[in-house]
Amino acid sequence: MILDANEKRVLLQLRNGGKDSAELSAAAGMDMASVERSLSRLADKKLVTITEETTPEVRLGGEGRRYLREGLPERKALALLSSRKLGIGEVEKRMGKQQAQIALSWLTRLGVLDIRSGMVELSEAANKYIKEELPQERVLQLLGEGRQVPQELRPALEQLLKRGSVAERRETKKRRAELTDAGKREVARGITVEEEVSGLTPELIASRKWRGVKLREYDVEAPVERSWPARRHFLMQAADYCRDVWVSLGFTEMTGPLIDSAFWNMDALFIPQDHPAREMQDTLYIKGEASLPERRVVEAVRKAHEKGVDGSRGWGYKWSEQESRRVMLRPHTTSLSARMLYQLGKTHWKREQGARKYFAIGRAFRNEVVDWKHGFEFNQTEGIVVGEGVTFRNHVHLMKEFYRRMGFGQARFRPAYYPYTEMSLGIEVFHPVHKKWVELGGSGIFRPEVVEPLLGEPVPVLAWGPGFDRMVMSYYNINNFGDLYKSDLAQVRNAKEWLMVD
Ligand code: PHE
Repeated sequence: MILDANEKRVLLQLRNGGKDSAELSAAAGMDMASVERSLSRLADKKLVTITEETTPEVRLGGEGRRYLREGLPERKALALLSSRKLGIGEVEKRMGKQQAQIALSWLTRLGVLDIRSGMVELSEAANKYIKEELPQERVLQLLGEGRQVPQELRPALEQLLKRGSVAERRETKKRRAELTDAGKREVARGITVEEEVSGLTPELIASRKWRGVKLREYDVEAPVERSWPARRHFLMQAADYCRDVWVSLGFTEMTGPLIDSAFWNMDALFIPQDHPAREMQDTLYIKGEASLPERRVVEAVRKAHEKGVDGSRGWGYKWSEQESRRVMLRPHTTSLSARMLYQLGKTHWKREQGARKYFAIGRAFRNEVVDWKHGFEFNQTEGIVVGEGVTFRNHVHLMKEFYRRMGFGQARFRPAYYPYTEMSLGIEVFHPVHKKWVELGGSGIFRPEVVEPLLGEPVPVLAWGPGFDRMVMSYYNINNFGDLYKSDLAQVRNAKEWLMVD
């Protein structure tokens, strides 16, 4: 066992029984701080046990120390009045008004004072106190010497305690240490205290004295204060983890603008222009006008809305290009999927080239009433699989696999509705600890009215865009949306790593 010199000193002092820190300090000739530090270390090493004792203690206060030097005011008054009668004004003049008042009131309580028409005089009974010590004076003396006040002086002590800062009651905490069996064995093995050097100085080296001194050994297991190096916010950590999961499933990340046109957020997704989700209460519109992609695609989207594609009938209304130029904070990350389909179309991707898989993790904005479930900004994890022959069963399997890798062993689906998918599926995962199903959001298979105008041909596209934050909240046991984003250092510091067992 590695023990430093101070620890050894303390151990040796405990050889013949328990001691408190003050006794140890005196016996070992160490200051209290060193004793306390050594005791804590010895306790960590299980060589001593420490018990805390709180003892009530009475000490002199500021006024008390003054009275101890100068005498109690009543003693001064007794001296002043011992052989004469004085006017109150005179007493006040000689003693100071405040002291005089204190003195006269205590002498009155002792019943040794006559006050008549402004004159004060000591009574017969006062003689006793002139000759003898007052019990209060005895108590002051004892407290001044740091000694115990005996039982018969308790009433006098209680009285002093009521007199302002004459005496104060305090609780002192004492730590009392005793050797454990391991500690006793350590002592029995023999302890020699050698002076130790805890740090090499240039002087020790230059003078070559270092060869002779005993250097304190490092205790690499000594408890240290926790430090908090920089770390990523746990939400960002979870997002990184999620990225790794998508990449491990063969996906490529797509990114794009937070502020985007209605065209990419809605029109390209076959959301009709009179759809309620376009109204102000959901979408956060921004002043301005966006540019549109090339004519060919704009016209294809118009045609899908007005007349449909390849035999379908569309929404049957007059599509407004102006409306599609409106600018907004993106209400979902599905805009990225629409843009990606368009990009793929531009590269003349053909189904024979094999499936393409993309994902995104990003922020979306909605004008929602903020409550425990909703914030007006939140994150979604979006994705598409574009490929000949991909099916609904691939979709379900992929979603299950994604959530399994995110730590949710069970996922289930229910019918849902989105203007841009058919089928449309709501996703829920089972929270293994809370034993509850958590609703995460939507997915489905993009309709030909979305795919054909952007990509150029009607290939099946699996698509999803469930919320990300709620998954993180349930993992971190955060019940309120606002708590996810609050600036709480303790929360950030103490958050476990995503899927790390601690
Ligand atoms: N965009 C939908 C939402 O905001 C989610 C979704 C994405 C649904 C892709 C189907 C397909 O909830």
